[in-house]
Amino acid sequence: MAAVLPGSAETAAGVGASAGLRPRWWLRLLVLVALLLLVLWPRPAWGLSEMARGAQLFEQHCAGCHVNGGNILRRGKTLKLAALERYGRADPAVIATIAAAGVGQMGGYAAVLGDGGPEAVASWVWQQATAGWPRG
Ligand code: HEC
Repeated sequence: MAAVLPGSAETAAGVGASAGLRPRWWLRLLVLVALLLLVLWPRPAWGLSEMARGAQLFEQHCAGCHVNGGNILRRGKTLKLAALERYGRADPAVIATIAAAGVGQMGGYAAVLGDGGPEAVASWVWQQATAGWPRG
């Protein structure tokens, strides 16, 4: 009798464990799917960092008029910190809006900058402005 009791207790534990196995199995599958999603989630274009992407976008779409943070069309409206502050544009969010929608004589570039492009290029412009546009 005494030998049977631990055995039946074991069986009961076994049943409990297998009953608890089903939710755990689903949990593992969920974790696996989540990990796969994390690994396979599409990276930003070119797999570059936000800053590198901003720099590349600037070269492609802004440098033609704003080489080294200047402005070849409107001399005063440069991307240097002093000018941005003078015109109330010393803010990456404002710069992103200008990049996408344009301002005054400047057209908007939302279509060519792509998803997140205005923000990326604005972050880079802002970084350059606060660093004094080292190349200019
Ligand atoms: C075809 C020439 C041209 C291109 C290309 C261009 N801009 Fe401009 N940008 C201008 C002109 C002109 C102004 C002045 C607009 C005004 O106030 O009339 C200006 C103004 C700005 C300003 C405000 C500067 C200030 O001191 O007030 C920002 C910020 C700016 N541009 C960012 C960008 C960014 C970012 C890009 C690239 C996505 C870009 N621009 C591309 C011509 C250009």
